[in-house]
Amino acid sequence: MAMAWVDGTDPVLVVNLDGDVRAFQGICSHEYFELDKGFLTAGSLTCALHLSRFDLETGDALDPPAEVPIVRYPVVVADGRVLIDVPEGPLPVNE
Ligand code: FES
Repeated sequence: MAMAWVDGTDPVLVVNLDGDVRAFQGICSHEYFELDKGFLTAGSLTCALHLSRFDLETGDALDPPAEVPIVRYPVVVADGRVLIDVPEGPLPVNE
């Protein structure tokens, strides 16, 4: 996984699961902490600060203290490039 930056300011976490590329908000929904510092387990992402796990299909918080899902963004892979579909305006993020 790696962090990408939309417009140079908004972090988006890009996760490659054996070629299945997914994108999520880059900051944990519990407190401000960058999720690329966490680690991947089978089907989930663990935040390194308080160890909440998030489902890599739905973004749902699986363990406390996080209660709110992380936002998943649509991804298209074209010509070897990963394109993240974000709406105009502020990037939707759950806090
Ligand atoms: S900051 Fe991620 S679980 Fe607390």
